[in-house]
Amino acid sequence: MKQFFSIDDVSDLKQLLEEAKVVKENPFELKGNIRNKSICLLFLNPSLRTRLSSQRAAQNLRVNVTIFDVGSGGWQLEFTDGAIMNSDKAEHVKEAAAVIGTYFDLIAIRAFAKLEDKDYQEQVLSQFMKHCPAPVVNLESSTRHPLQAFADLVTIEAYKKTKKPKVVLTWAPHPRALPQAVANSFSLWTQAAGYDLTIAHPEGYELAPEFSGNAKVEYDQRKAFEEADFIYAKNWSSYSNYGEILCKDSNWMVSEDKMKLTNNAKFMHCLPVRRNVVVSDAVIDSKDSLVVEQAENRIVSAQTIFKRLLS
Ligand code: CP
Repeated sequence: MKQFFSIDDVSDLKQLLEEAKVVKENPFELKGNIRNKSICLLFLNPSLRTRLSSQRAAQNLRVNVTIFDVGSGGWQLEFTDGAIMNSDKAEHVKEAAAVIGTYFDLIAIRAFAKLEDKDYQEQVLSQFMKHCPAPVVNLESSTRHPLQAFADLVTIEAYKKTKKPKVVLTWAPHPRALPQAVANSFSLWTQAAGYDLTIAHPEGYELAPEFSGNAKVEYDQRKAFEEADFIYAKNWSSYSNYGEILCKDSNWMVSEDKMKLTNNAKFMHCLPVRRNVVVSDAVIDSKDSLVVEQAENRIVSAQTIFKRLLS
């Protein structure tokens, strides 16, 4: 593995999940000599889980970790090739990525979608991967959140009762327009793991075809929930009407009565979550809610990937 941008960088998902199990059981065990290596976590956007879990993962590996809030502490970066830099952007990513790559053995970057036309070109991550000599890890880009999806798989693997559980990714309401990154990665990773994936959403919220793949699509949320083993709630804005909110129907909130249609399903969400908008208190506070364990597994996914890339 030379970088961790997407599931395409993982040639052996089963093996990766085995490595995650070992990391989870023995978080402080060190094999190989990665002590004294260094990681830089670059944030262009806010975070709670990604920031703290990545830092903890690095600390568990006894590698040095630096957090750099590019938005508030660095120069504004230019990402366009050939730009005439006579406005507010003081530094081009070509130099910034090259320089940071000489200071650290690995850099990890968060750069959300701006919900603009160019998002699916993944300009920020692709420019860093092109110009940085050190391996690059995706901490959520415009279209993907692979460390989240990897943690979600670690969580499902721990609770699944059958080889091919029925997993439902359901759209849920939200007051703001959100990117598709979490839903996109969850769809790709759960299908790669061989789960039976249904994606439930109102019409107009279809994911881009390269992300929905062979998942079943269901416009009737109650029907989708029938016999589900895992319910994963997430809001995303429309892909076809890019970045728009097409539906505000509160009936799509995950509620106790809908959970009763499932096969005693576990409830999942990547967090942060809007209570009583995306999911009712009763569901997220129930014994079947895995949201905190999912977040805890973010340390496991980050540590497993950092370990691979630094070894
Ligand atoms: N799930 C997730 O990435 O959380 P943060 O945005 O808080 O990092």
